[in-house]
Amino acid sequence: MDFPIDPRIDLNRLPAHVGIIMDGNGRWAMKRFFPRIAGHREGVNAVDRVVSHASRMGVKALTLYSFSLENWSRPRDEVNALMEILAEFLERELSRILDEGIRFNAIGHIEDLPLFAQEWVGRAMTETSDREGMVLTLALSYSSRREIADAAQALAREAMAGKISPDEIEEEDIARNLYTSNLPELDLLIRTSGELRLSNYLLWQAAYAELYFTDLYWPDFGEREFENAILAFQSRVRKFGLTDDQITSKKV
Ligand code: IPE
Ligand code: IPE
Ligand code: MG
Repeated sequence: MDFPIDPRIDLNRLPAHVGIIMDGNGRWAMKRFFPRIAGHREGVNAVDRVVSHASRMGVKALTLYSFSLENWSRPRDEVNALMEILAEFLERELSRILDEGIRFNAIGHIEDLPLFAQEWVGRAMTETSDREGMVLTLALSYSSRREIADAAQALAREAMAGKISPDEIEEEDIARNLYTSNLPELDLLIRTSGELRLSNYLLWQAAYAELYFTDLYWPDFGEREFENAILAFQSRVRKFGLTDDQITSKKV
């Protein structure tokens, strides 16, 4: 049965784009004397719960930090297991993603992934490309600083080709060269497991995002906690540099 949506949530004021740093799989497993990989496997169930619930609520874009560029330095067995879990997830969930009208997307250096994983990522993107519901983006082999450096390279090439002048480079030029150029502004960024840092995730995009931290380990995260994050978002006043008076007069 579908998890009922909390009536306190104002569905007309949802964050358009939610990012999640899904952290704490290892600690979830260690607490139970399981191998770390068991935590990653359990984490996939939390992904299922949150993807379905966010899509049902009407969130436009959900971007999940699934594997960082830095994560390649983990023990080889763990990296291999994570790649297998990713491919299994896409293989198993693709039909459900299609049924729910979700468009699958991936950002990061996908070409770093083993071929079998790249193939599933490509297939999921192609098969869901005409879907018009929520955009589910997995950040894979992702580094925000790398993304900004890639944008700088692209702009330098445009300048060399005489398409833009270096003196006229604006914030929008950087934004349109980021991997997220087709996604709405990031409104809400969630991190689980009690860590209070961004770990090289969506640094540019998070400039004015609301941040939500929870002590829950990712495998324990679900619909209820996702709703708590949305409720927290809706209770905040986003000021974008203005004064409280300015914000109040804007509303009326
Ligand atoms: C997040 O959980 C998943 C990935 C980084 C792939 P962790 O594996 O980082 O879990 P902890 O932080 O060690 O508990
Ligand atoms: C961030 O978690 C990366 C993902 C969730 C995929 P990490 O566990 O790798 O981050 P740090 O090392 O604690 O900063
Ligand atoms: Mg971690």
